[in-house]
Amino acid sequence: MKIDLHSHILPKEWPNLKQRYGYEGWIQLHHHCKGEAKMMKDGNVFRVIQENCWDPQVRIQDMDQSGVTLQVLSTVPVMFNYWAKPKDTLDLCHILNDDLAATVHKHSKRFIGLGTVPMQDPELAVQEMYRCVKELGFPGIQIGSHINDWDLNSHELYPVYAAAEKLSCAIFVHPWDMKMDGRMSKYWLPWLVGMPAETTIAICSMLFGGIFEKFPKLKVCFAHGGGAFPYTIGRIEHGFNIRPDLCAIDNKINPRKSLGRFYTDSLVHDPLALKLLVEVIGEDKVVLGTDYPFPLGELKPGNLIESMGEFDNELKEKLLAKNALEFLGLEKKHFG
Ligand code: CO
Repeated sequence: MKIDLHSHILPKEWPNLKQRYGYEGWIQLHHHCKGEAKMMKDGNVFRVIQENCWDPQVRIQDMDQSGVTLQVLSTVPVMFNYWAKPKDTLDLCHILNDDLAATVHKHSKRFIGLGTVPMQDPELAVQEMYRCVKELGFPGIQIGSHINDWDLNSHELYPVYAAAEKLSCAIFVHPWDMKMDGRMSKYWLPWLVGMPAETTIAICSMLFGGIFEKFPKLKVCFAHGGGAFPYTIGRIEHGFNIRPDLCAIDNKINPRKSLGRFYTDSLVHDPLALKLLVEVIGEDKVVLGTDYPFPLGELKPGNLIESMGEFDNELKEKLLAKNALEFLGLEKKHFG
């Protein structure tokens, strides 16, 4: 069994959002030829996508070929729209979540949904989280690595974490909104350097902010193998020890003590990095994630885990499926 916790999907179409909300900045799909569409933002091409980004049947064919039992579906992070008016983001979340729920319900043995919520307005976010879990049957939500000026330790977000704890709603943290200009404008640096840095900021903010102490039942998984965090935990711990005046102001607990407390996906593209990741984050806390259908992801889902000579079968089964079921609070029998 293989469960891909990190895969993205979009509706095939949605209303014209500039017309609907009265201002620009939204993504629209332009289906310019069969099987391909341009994600357009204010007249500029953001990304070209293929039908595997919106068509469940095409995805299932790919899954059958690559042996993926289940895809956990979340929106493309550019659709978070935390910058917009909260009521408009909420409205778009309704559109995205309802479309996702329809796909999941139609193919309930192959797909699981992670909802999207308007995090810039925690009250509305909680409201939509309830709907996602109670009405749409999603076991979790996906959120960005930061919410405008808030990092994930922000007090404003506490009600969201409290609700997630209460609902056993798993939270998948995805990097987004990287710095794009100036020194980051060349060589795809926002994706290659910015994203791992974003995820590291998200993890450090939650650890230093004491989020896991305040919300002990909160389940969080970070994308892309936790970014640069697993490799820099030594530096982070050392910094915590020598400058508690800067690092230990909100939480006295050494960040290393929180290892094993949260999850990451396995998307690191390198056997040495995956070995380190599993040692640092924990054998029970790393889950397969491929970033399907995007080319920067793992193009042969699960290949890296399966190729690891030093991992026994029991560990591989954990990484490929068991840990994801645990994270999502689901049981294998529903998908057999
Ligand atoms: Co992704």
